[in-house]
Amino acid sequence: MATEKSAAPKEVPGKSFTLTDNQTGKSVTLPVLDGTVGPSVIDVRNLYAETGHFTFDPSFTATGSCKSRLTYIDGEEGVLMHRGYTIEELADKSDFLEVAFLLLYGDLPSAAEKKKFEKDITYHTMVHEQLHLFYRGFRRDAHPMAIMCGVVAALSAFYHDSLDIWDPRQREISAHRLIAKIPTLAAMTYKYSLGQPFMYPRNDLSFSENFLYMCFGVPAEPYKVNPILAEAIDKIFILHADHEQNASTSTVRLAGSSQANPFACVASGIACLWGPSHGGANQEVLEMLAQIGSKDRIPEFIARAKNKDDPFRLMGFGHRVYKNFDPRANVLKKYADEVLEELGVDDPLLEIAMELEKIALQDEYFIQRKLFPNVDFYSGIILKAMGFPTSMFTVLFAVARTVGWISQWKEMIEEPNLRIGRPRQLYTGPVQRPYVPIEKRG
Ligand code: CMC
Repeated sequence: MATEKSAAPKEVPGKSFTLTDNQTGKSVTLPVLDGTVGPSVIDVRNLYAETGHFTFDPSFTATGSCKSRLTYIDGEEGVLMHRGYTIEELADKSDFLEVAFLLLYGDLPSAAEKKKFEKDITYHTMVHEQLHLFYRGFRRDAHPMAIMCGVVAALSAFYHDSLDIWDPRQREISAHRLIAKIPTLAAMTYKYSLGQPFMYPRNDLSFSENFLYMCFGVPAEPYKVNPILAEAIDKIFILHADHEQNASTSTVRLAGSSQANPFACVASGIACLWGPSHGGANQEVLEMLAQIGSKDRIPEFIARAKNKDDPFRLMGFGHRVYKNFDPRANVLKKYADEVLEELGVDDPLLEIAMELEKIALQDEYFIQRKLFPNVDFYSGIILKAMGFPTSMFTVLFAVARTVGWISQWKEMIEEPNLRIGRPRQLYTGPVQRPYVPIEKRG
């Protein structure tokens, strides 16, 4: 198996920060740590012991929560790399399972390793038959992410033989199981909503072809996979595979830090991904386009997005980290054009999307704040054109991100001295007060 080649973080000799308490005049010197590329970090681990103060950073805009060798982002320059390979190159030359191998093991696979990995994954694509019964407990109109939270967590009730997180082989089997079974569970979720029979996976198809087959095939007739659509799905999966310490990945790491099993940890990531500020944005993009309804109403919605008294935001625009452009969006835009052309889609919502993109990119408000279309803007458009209902969009994101979650989880568990994550707080509630008996309360 390939091994990772990367440097451990080093304390930068002679580089440190000194903080001085203006009241006592006492100073503390904090070491600075260097990664292989990107900003150095100030190591505040001893800050409380030395000063009695915590740092305060509620949305983690200035906090590095871990060391990682998986993914590097330079938001100012619009750079995204996995294990040193740019996302543009991976999207262009690789395929999803190869990227999964890269994230999981650290290097691109040799031909033999790739073949073995594909076999290892396809070996696990079926789910325990009993899991089918879980679906029946849900309403047919349940949000697919609600079902996914439940059935992915339920995997830990079925695969007891890979739950020992301290056994490297069991960790690996759990990782393979998750990557292999998530598409099956996701497709079942879709089939359940339609009232159609579940389609068993076909291991003669590629990862992405099989996913399309399980979603759009029916037992009554043969299903021919459209190679352009399979390629576009594969690209969407590559582009969503990992994204450094985003909200859902941080959730998975935090859950994993308590030594919870990997299926439960990934289920927690799915719950976090569901939110409209994160993975739920691609669904919201299409809902927003439907709300806009026609091209002539775009200026009205642009005005609403700029109005600070109106909570409305242009979904699919802006990013916490990318303040230049989202490199994933650039790659996907090309595939969006290809898919729309292949399918000859004539959808007024997609026309609104294209017009909105054009107008927003020329608008001073968006230019000044560096609010570019993000990956969700284009993935939503592609998935809609392919025939996925909007409620499934975030599920597809989860299928891809499972690779990142489980790779990050594995990396964390393999670090020496795993400690439970436990942030502190700035308490702003009442100070101690006496309990008042109910009859004496005003
Ligand atoms: N529409 C209108 N104004 C916006 C938008 C938007 N989509 N996004 C940010 N702004 C404004 C915001 O009001 C603020 O203006 P001002 O400086 O005048 O107060 C400024 O831009 C900076 O915004 P912010 O809220 O500080 O940015 P953030 O980093 O906290 O938020 C974001 C990032 C992605 C949550 C936000 O841009 C947003 O809500 N976008 C729409 C939702 C979306 O598309 N999310 C998917 C993100 S990509 C997928 C993923 O990686 O999960």
